[in-house]
Amino acid sequence: MSNGESPRPSDQDAVNRRWRLWASTGAGAIVVVAIVIGFFVISSRGEGGVTGALGLDHVHETPEAVAQTAAGALPTDVAWTAATLGLLEDADPEAGRAIAVQTCASCHGEAGIAVAAAFPNLAGQPATAIFKQLSDYASGHRVSPMMAAMAQGLTAAQMADLAVHFAAETPAESIVDANPPAAIVQLVVNGDPARGLPPCSACHSARGGPVGTPPLGGQPAAYLEQQLTAFAAGERGNDIYGLMRAVAGMLTPAEIAQLAAYYGN
Ligand code: HEC
Ligand code: HEC
Repeated sequence: MSNGESPRPSDQDAVNRRWRLWASTGAGAIVVVAIVIGFFVISSRGEGGVTGALGLDHVHETPEAVAQTAAGALPTDVAWTAATLGLLEDADPEAGRAIAVQTCASCHGEAGIAVAAAFPNLAGQPATAIFKQLSDYASGHRVSPMMAAMAQGLTAAQMADLAVHFAAETPAESIVDANPPAAIVQLVVNGDPARGLPPCSACHSARGGPVGTPPLGGQPAAYLEQQLTAFAAGERGNDIYGLMRAVAGMLTPAEIAQLAAYYGN
C-alpha cells in the first residue's frame, strides 16, 4: 500500500501534534484578547459589562465593601464609575495648572515635560491614567515615598484638575528607534501566543487603549524599564486584574530592556 506519497503514521502524528499546538495556542490568545476586551473595554462603558455579568462590580461599590475585602487584596481604590468619570469631566485645567506650577513643575515641568530622565512625562497622558496614578500613590497601592508625599496633600477634585491640565498639554516627542530588533517588533505588534503574551499595542497604542492606559512613547527608556521590572517582581501591583504584572512576568530582563528602548527616548 505504501507508495511514499502519504506520510508515515508517525509523521502524520507529528503534523497533527504541531497543528494542535498552534490551534490551542491560537485559541488561548483569542481567549486572552476576549477577556481583555470584556474586562476593560466593555466594563469601561459603564454598563456593567463582563465585570457586571460576573458579579464583580459590587466589589468597588461602597467603601464598606472595600473595607471588608482583605487589606491589599484590591490593586487600587479607583473604579471607572460614572462618579469617577464625572469628576474628570467637571475638572478645571486652570486650577490644575496653578497647582502644577507650585508643586509639580520642579520635577515634571509646568506643562508635563519632565526636567530629567528620572521623572516620567505627564503631558498628553489620558486624564484617567494621571488621576488613577495620583490616587494610587495617595492610597499606597503604588509605592513611591516621593509621590506619596505629593499626592496625599491633594483632594480627589485637585487630582482631577491636575489630570485634565497635564492631559491637555502637548506630549513629548517620541524618538523612534530606526532599527528595532525584529523579535521586539513582533512582541509589540503580535505578542507571543506560545507564552500567552498579548501584543503591547493592543492596549498601548496611539488610538488609545483601555481606560487608564498610559502611553509609552516619549517616556525616558530608563523609567519604562524600571516600571516593567517592578511589575515583573510584583513591587508595583496597582494594575487592575494584575494584567501588567502577568505581562511583565512573562518577559525576560533582556526583552524588558529592549521594549523600554523601543518605546522610550
Ligand atoms: C520631587 C520630584 C517630584 C515632584 C515634585 C512630583 N513628582 Fe510625580 N513623580 C516623581 C517620580 C520620581 C515619579 C516616578 C515614581 C515611581 O517610581 O512610581 C513620579 C510619578 C508621577 C506620576 C505617574 C506617571 C506615570 O506615567 O505612571 C504622576 C501621575 C505624577 N508623578 C504626578 C505628579 C503631580 C501631579 C505632581 C504635583 C502635585 C508631582 N507628580 C510632583 C517625582 C515627582
Ligand atoms: C491588556 C492591556 C495591556 C497590555 C496588553 C499591555 N499593557 Fe502595559 N499597561 C496597561 C495598563 C492598563 C497600564 C496601567 C496600569 C496601572 O493602572 O497602573 C499599563 C502600564 C504599563 C507601563 C507603566 C507606564 C507608566 O507610565 O508608568 C509600562 C512600562 C507598560 N505598561 C508596558 C507594556 C509593554 C512593554 C507591553 C507589552 C509587552 C504591555 N505594557 C502590554 C495595559 C496593557
